[in-house]
Amino acid sequence: MTAAKAQAPSASLITKSLRAYVAAHPNLKYVFFGGKGGVGKTVMAGATAVWLAQQNRRTILVSTNPVHSLSGLLGQNVFGQHTPVHNVDRLRAFEIDTKDTIARSKQEIREKIQWFLKFAEISTKADEFVESASMNPAFEESAMFENMLDLMIKDEYDSYVFDTAPTANARRLLGMSKVYSLWVSKMMKSRQEAQTLREALSFTKKKESDPLMEYLTTLRGRMARAQSLLTNPDQTAFFFVTLPEALPIAVVRRFIGWFHDFGIPVGGVVVNRLIQTDTVGPETSDFVRNRMAMQAGYMQEIYQTFEGLVRAIIPLYDTEVRGVPALEHLSKALFS
Ligand SMILES: Nc1ncnc2c1ncn2[C@@H]1O[C@H](COP(=O)(O)OP(=O)(O)O)[C@@H](O)[C@H]1O
Ligand SMILES: [Mg+2]
Repeated sequence: MTAAKAQAPSASLITKSLRAYVAAHPNLKYVFFGGKGGVGKTVMAGATAVWLAQQNRRTILVSTNPVHSLSGLLGQNVFGQHTPVHNVDRLRAFEIDTKDTIARSKQEIREKIQWFLKFAEISTKADEFVESASMNPAFEESAMFENMLDLMIKDEYDSYVFDTAPTANARRLLGMSKVYSLWVSKMMKSRQEAQTLREALSFTKKKESDPLMEYLTTLRGRMARAQSLLTNPDQTAFFFVTLPEALPIAVVRRFIGWFHDFGIPVGGVVVNRLIQTDTVGPETSDFVRNRMAMQAGYMQEIYQTFEGLVRAIIPLYDTEVRGVPALEHLSKALFS
């Protein structure tokens, strides 16, 4: 990988670099990367995790993307387990196994539904409900979200770097915590009413245990925790990766709007794959020159749209970014 020289004119427009942002947020713990598919989220997450581990932080690089790519990036299998990354002290990588989580969630839901059907004296098989509930495409995302939360709440690392799913999935993942809280509050209220009524009607005054209520109480606690973790600007930051191109910019613009609505801290924007002006020579093709002109136009747009939020500009390398040495190399540009 060559062509890693920082581009001086563009770099000077960065008011606060990624390095400066991290220095200004000493308690930063949960770092997320989002953006359109293919823009470089996974490589930026990887490079950031390597850099944080080298700053003496116990770090975990986590993929919450249903289509995992960390094992491919690192050249080692990190699926389903917190796996020490070869040649990087203090760094582990982990691709969340949704199959297990979904199976577990299905089982939990089955138990709850069975209990509820019995409680409501309805003689239907729980399985029908379980199937229709888990056919919902949001189910996998919800399972992923639960996993992510578990990881955050367990608090075993100094830093967490999340490689999130592209586009709308990440939004739903986050919106979920809000929707869940509302839903849980509603459910709890109606459960309380039902319970009171049942107790009033029953002859025995003994208070019955209510597993559904217990579950809801726990879930509500977890959601409150999730919201406080995700909305704390000292601990959490979302970074968006874009290219100097129309569509990725539009995606990031939309994302930032949503995140403001959810009260989730936006750490900034990383621009990836900028062709370096110092690579231009007399032999440079029109194709490359045209692309550079196009990129220059979009760089203007980026500075205007994301004013004060551009944290790093990464050159287009002549090879893909794979393996720890390439990530280290990238991390130097990212945290220059
Ligand atoms: N600056 C860059 N120069 C060259 N190749 C890059 C650069 N950034 C990313 N890539 C390559 O582009 C591809 C997509 O990057 P990736 O991080 O997987 O994107 P995403 O996770 O957003 O889908 C990968 O093959 C990666 O190695
Ligand atoms: Mg990816």
